[in-house]
Amino acid sequence: MKSPGADSEASPEPRLLAPSADPVEVAEEVSLRPRRLAEFVGQAPLKEHLEIMLEAARRREEPADHMLFAGPPGLGKTSLAGIIANEMGAGFRVTSGPALVRAGDLAALLTNLSEGDVLFVDEIHRLARPVEEILYPAMEDFQLDIVLGKGPAARSIRLDLPHFTLVGATTRTGLITGPLRDRFGFVARLDYYEVADLELIVRRSARVLRATLDQEGGSEIAKRSRGTPRLANRLLKRVRDYAEVRGDGTIDREVARSGLDLFQVDELGLDKVDRAILEATCSKFGGGPVGLGTLAVAVGEAPETVEDVYEPFLLQLGMLMRTPRGRVATPLAWQHLGLPPQARPPAGANGPEPGDGAEPGGALWG
Ligand SMILES: Nc1ncnc2c1ncn2[C@@H]1O[C@H](COP(=O)(O)OP(=O)(O)O)[C@@H](O)[C@H]1O
Ligand SMILES: [Mg+2]
Repeated sequence: MKSPGADSEASPEPRLLAPSADPVEVAEEVSLRPRRLAEFVGQAPLKEHLEIMLEAARRREEPADHMLFAGPPGLGKTSLAGIIANEMGAGFRVTSGPALVRAGDLAALLTNLSEGDVLFVDEIHRLARPVEEILYPAMEDFQLDIVLGKGPAARSIRLDLPHFTLVGATTRTGLITGPLRDRFGFVARLDYYEVADLELIVRRSARVLRATLDQEGGSEIAKRSRGTPRLANRLLKRVRDYAEVRGDGTIDREVARSGLDLFQVDELGLDKVDRAILEATCSKFGGGPVGLGTLAVAVGEAPETVEDVYEPFLLQLGMLMRTPRGRVATPLAWQHLGLPPQARPPAGANGPEPGDGAEPGGALWG
């Protein structure tokens, strides 16, 4: 299912806008992670919906319904899962799609749950099929089907499981199978955050980190964090370093600007890879359409990373468009790169090459 090399393209240097947290950052994030729904900034309609669902479940003294959170990395899916456990006063167990290799791995986890626990399955779109099939009766009837033996002598027994709440997270709703998706009582998409919300997050984080940040410094960081709380916190930390080494430690607009320029994060929050994607689409491929695989190779990233991490924000900014024949740069992209807008190349000049259709999210047919 995955294209070759999807995991092999490690970046040569740590990137400021890298989508996921490294182990050190994971530890640091713990202190910045909101623990209660009230501390979770933004996403107001989603929060209200959750508040009602959790309150109703508490009154009925039942675990909350299973929930699926979808959206790009760093928008708060893991945080929400933890918040749900906290708000329900429930235990919190964490696993992920790729970590559950065999059906038995999930069976062991499920039989060890306590009544009411929240089981968080990150990257749930990457569950192996036999594992996913164990999950269906577990979610629906809190039952586990175990097959003993092999061949004609095989028999199946059912075990009752404690009632639990499954919280799934995915960067790819498109890859969740119908039967799995149908078993969630609540499916929510997290959107990129407003700058005002990111300002609140940056200010709260500055207090936690004891960094001196003024209003304008905070808004400069918020503006450049591409709608993503994790990046807002990451940029804050790097700018704090910069302020301590190059200045007196105070993060004001000037310090934030020069720090972020130095780290090559531009005014829209685009980093080197974003710009490489736009540059390749515009200059190398005449504005597109260019297939995802070709584009990924041109910028030295895995197609999955381009599709999950970089592309959604470029689409949101209106710089890139997805068409059945590939990605196309919009006039905004040419403008942002300071290039003169080009006439669209003749149809078929840069059509997707063979192989592109085999990739998830590539061609619409194939
Ligand atoms: N709504 C929010 N309010 C405050 N901080 C947030 C919010 N969403 C995310 N964060 C911050 O961003 C970090 C990454 O969020 P996380 O829940 O791990 O994202 P995801 O699981 O979607 O990748 C968290 O540790 C937290 O510091
Ligand atoms: Mg997460």
